[in-house]
Amino acid sequence: MQDHYPKEIMTKDGTPILIRPFAKEDQTKLREFFSRISEDERWFIRDDLSDPEIMDKWMQGSDYSRTIPLIAVKQEDGTILGNVILYMRLSDCVSHVAHLRIVIDPEFRQQRLGTWMLIDAIKLAMDLGLEKLIAEFVGGVDDAAMAAAQRLDFFEKGILPDHFKDQHGRYRDLVIMVKNFHRDWSDF
Ligand SMILES: CC(C)(COP(=O)(O)OP(=O)(O)OC[C@H]1O[C@@H](n2cnc3c(N)ncnc32)[C@H](O)[C@@H]1OP(=O)(O)O)[C@@H](O)C(=O)NCCC(=O)NCCS
Repeated sequence: MQDHYPKEIMTKDGTPILIRPFAKEDQTKLREFFSRISEDERWFIRDDLSDPEIMDKWMQGSDYSRTIPLIAVKQEDGTILGNVILYMRLSDCVSHVAHLRIVIDPEFRQQRLGTWMLIDAIKLAMDLGLEKLIAEFVGGVDDAAMAAAQRLDFFEKGILPDHFKDQHGRYRDLVIMVKNFHRDWSDF
């Protein structure tokens, strides 16, 4: 996997960025990245990595055969601007599937960074021999993410009504979107 990285990309406004796997030395910068994400968004992230204790536990429990975290790093100063994580399970019955979670720095949204990271995660998942990617969204909160995923051929496959509660106790749907890989036809 390391052979493919780092990958150099550019945001719409011309900022040079590197996409590469997360390394242990990036912990502090990743924590800083998550602390720039609004509380409303962090509420729905299962592991709040802006919290040092949760970050430590996440690092200790991270099994890189099952979890692949990628980061987008600003070349100029090393600031982390985006994070995408692929989660896989070891059980044979779901070994063809990965779950994906993506977050981009609020200051750098709508710069195509999310698209670049999604394309990279899709490519990586295909290279790993997976057959499908699943992304879970919070209805009414992750609408921008659903739009970005839709553009890359993720299709809505299910909704669990009122699955989540937001900070104010309001119910939110869980929206499940799936991208199937078609090996005989180009996915890009
Ligand atoms: C979703 C997210 C990752 C998109 O990242 P991004 O870098 O802003 O995305 P891009 O600039 O690549 O946008 C790609 C497309 O998504 C759609 N999109 C992005 N932001 C949007 C917004 N605020 N409203 C509507 N559509 C939007 C557009 O179709 C856009 O294409 P365009 O620029 O050609 O119009 C980012 O908004 C984010 O981190 N959101 C919070 C976390 C989240 O919801 N994660 C999902 C859980 S997996």
